[in-house]
Amino acid sequence: MPRPLLIAPSILSADFARLGEEIRAIDQAGCDWIHVDVMDGHFVPNITIGPDVVRAIRPHTNKIIDTHLMIAPADPYLEAFAKAGSDIITVHAEAGPHLHRSLQTIRALGKKAGVSLNPHTPETIIEYVLDQLDLVLVMSVNPGFGGQVFIPAMVDKISRVRAMIGARPIHLEVDGGVTPSTAQLCTSAGADVLVAGSAIFKNGAYAANIAAIRHACAASPQA
Ligand code: DX5
Ligand code: ZN
Repeated sequence: MPRPLLIAPSILSADFARLGEEIRAIDQAGCDWIHVDVMDGHFVPNITIGPDVVRAIRPHTNKIIDTHLMIAPADPYLEAFAKAGSDIITVHAEAGPHLHRSLQTIRALGKKAGVSLNPHTPETIIEYVLDQLDLVLVMSVNPGFGGQVFIPAMVDKISRVRAMIGARPIHLEVDGGVTPSTAQLCTSAGADVLVAGSAIFKNGAYAANIAAIRHACAASPQA
């Protein structure tokens, strides 16, 4: 059965001075989720936003807020992001020694739990936490900045993660350098959620940019 393709614009590429308006615009432009990139200047070489910003954007959309934590440690902040209104909370496998515990904590807070893998991290790291997962996020750039170029070797990783997921109800999300040209590589390999920042927020044509990604993927078969 075909998996519905979900598009998650990354607000990292939004105009932060008009964030509420930007959230409403991508919501109305037909996105599925809102992807929030949280960076700490320690795990990644950039600093972005915290739970107060998630709380501030929450009233502007009813769509799923997909919170990508690029912070180490993550555990002390999980409750704050949950209370702020995140629906999915994703931690990096590389960000702490107790991934299983982090995922358990997220679910105990009533939220969906995700794990993200840096480009160099083998997918086998998720083997013993599959039962704790609602989402696997394959990074297709080195996390820290928008507007980077998609790493082609990640297509093979996406296929391998899809095989590991099997029939489990786990989303397979790809993040970084997703454009209409790279999107279909990801969905053909088995991704069902695509994050895109610069490709969606460029030139103000949000609905057309989202539609271009959907159209590119519709043309190719799913894994
Ligand atoms: C990178 C972030 C991504 C990024 C995507 O660290 O996790 O979500 O903003 O931006 P684009 O689509 O421009 O590569
Ligand atoms: Zn992200």
